[in-house]
Amino acid sequence: MPDPHLTIVDHPLVQHKLSLMREVTTSTAVFRQLLREISQLLAYEVTRELPMTSKRITTPMQEMDAPALAGRKLALVSILRAGNGLLDGMLELIPSARVGFVGLYRDEETLKPVQYYFKVPEALEQRTVIAVDPMLATGNSSVAAIDLLKQAGAKNIRFLCLLAAPEGVARMKEAHPDVPIVTAALDSHLNENGYIVPGLGDAGDRMFGTK
Ligand code: URA
Repeated sequence: MPDPHLTIVDHPLVQHKLSLMREVTTSTAVFRQLLREISQLLAYEVTRELPMTSKRITTPMQEMDAPALAGRKLALVSILRAGNGLLDGMLELIPSARVGFVGLYRDEETLKPVQYYFKVPEALEQRTVIAVDPMLATGNSSVAAIDLLKQAGAKNIRFLCLLAAPEGVARMKEAHPDVPIVTAALDSHLNENGYIVPGLGDAGDRMFGTK
């Protein structure tokens, strides 16, 4: 039975592009381009259940009641820094979306995520909020980011990632069972350094060429 909390987008184009991204020989430029393309396909899936209304329009032939998105503009929230890679492609598909950023770093003593930046659109409680981060690994930063979004008023949140580890999915499900996750793949496990296996390495380094 499908898990309502986790959607794996098994579309052939998504899976093919993801395999290219995983390859260690894929260059920064190609990785970035693929991420942009795949994020548009994932955006299509994560927005599938958006509430709709209808509005009266006039075609060259006649008037009609035409479907339209209901309510306030979507809020896309990038979890820095790798979230920005998913954000760019999504904005091409949803150009009127409002955008927020959450910055977290890991305290080396407590190992807990600490906020260093938080800026989100106003009236978050009236918007569908899509938090984006390519890698759902331990889930610590994703859970903390969603805690912050809820504190800021968000009530209707979805989480979009490229790759998820079972550990991260379980942690999110426990902390935020009301937040559905959409991902391109559920990988095997985390290694001792918290990297997803088989994964694709450090998503931020690969998209920004920092290693
Ligand atoms: N973050 C990454 O960029 N890669 C992983 O595998 C895990 C977390």
